[in-house]
Amino acid sequence: MTDSPASDSSPFDHQASGSTASDGSTSARPASGDTPARVPAIDQDPRIGEVLLSEEEIAERIREIGERISADYEGEAPLLICVLRGAYVFLTDLARAVNLPVEIDFIAVSSYGSSTRTSGVVRLVKDLDVDLHGRHVILVEDIVDTGLTLRYLRRSLEARNPASLEVCALLARESADIESLGVRYVGFRIPGDFVIGYGLDIAERYRNLRYIALYEPDAT
Ligand code: IMP
Repeated sequence: MTDSPASDSSPFDHQASGSTASDGSTSARPASGDTPARVPAIDQDPRIGEVLLSEEEIAERIREIGERISADYEGEAPLLICVLRGAYVFLTDLARAVNLPVEIDFIAVSSYGSSTRTSGVVRLVKDLDVDLHGRHVILVEDIVDTGLTLRYLRRSLEARNPASLEVCALLARESADIESLGVRYVGFRIPGDFVIGYGLDIAERYRNLRYIALYEPDAT
């Protein structure tokens, strides 16, 4: 880290609640005496449990899926729809593994809030910008768990008359009936434990892990 006039602030102070000085510059420090809780560095966080899928395993599988998509859609320019936020890391790697001129759009839904249990209600948070009419669409999901999110998205996207609609999920629970859910491309089948990393979060954290790990809420 380089020295700067603000170097008396620790990296742990970087929170959204900064203060604005009279010259208009903002400080990472909180406005008043409310000291934000310090958080451990990623490599020292006890809540990051066993690594389920390493960076290398994920990269290799995405390379294979990219090759399959490139073959299946030869001569086409499929539209990859990234389901925010969990699929954003997968989308960036997957798109670069496809040897076709893909286009990208984003949709955001919410069903988990900040808990590890689905609320059972899917809410559209951000809709697409592009028109799906006549397009070959691949919906890119992070994980299919109960399938609730996917069923909701399928219904919503099919109503917009794409030429075709397929689903590519990095992860699917062993319990998920991916055939009846129409998931064409699946990276890995995993058991029921809550996982974090590679885009997947708990309360918005851990998305930036390069691997996928079990989440251990009670570890200290
Ligand atoms: P479903 O609607 O039950 O299939 O849940 C799908 C969504 O729940 C995913 O797109 C994720 O955002 C979230 N989700 C389900 N399981 C996990 C998990 O283990 N870690 C992080 N997010 C999860």
